[in-house]
Amino acid sequence: MLKKSMEKALNRQLNREFESSYLYLSMSAWLESKSLVGMAAWMRIQTLEEMDHVMRFYNHIHQRGGSVKFEAVPAPQATWKSPLAVFEGALEHERKISRSIHQLVDLGVKDGDHPTQSFLQWFVAEQVEEEATADEIVSQLKLVGNSGSGLLLLDQTLGARKVEPEGE
Ligand code: FEO
Repeated sequence: MLKKSMEKALNRQLNREFESSYLYLSMSAWLESKSLVGMAAWMRIQTLEEMDHVMRFYNHIHQRGGSVKFEAVPAPQATWKSPLAVFEGALEHERKISRSIHQLVDLGVKDGDHPTQSFLQWFVAEQVEEEATADEIVSQLKLVGNSGSGLLLLDQTLGARKVEPEGE
């Protein structure tokens, strides 16, 4: 059975994952409006991954006898000054999410909540991957600089991203 304080913290994170999904869909829409369809597709996959994260928290809360509580999701940022600014925003966002996951792990340790600690280990590893991927794309966009052909090539490369099977 979840402690009430942990139930509240897990629900807060569930809602943060919704915010992530909403933010990435907004980024996808902006990229699409700039004809960067490959980057837009990459962001749409990111949106779906965040919904998978929502459902992982949803399932864990239910399995532990807790109640899911949804909060209002604030409107995400809608415009950026460049594709680089989009991916820098994504990197900054993922760093923030990593910090909140680590705080949850700390709470699990403090409470002696072993099931939640075990559940969160997947997220700890996932955040390392998410930060590394966003960081790599930021570096690539910096290398491309103002080159239109470089940007289109990177757009094509990112557009080749495939949806990963569930649990990956
Ligand atoms: Fe759900 Fe991108 O972290």
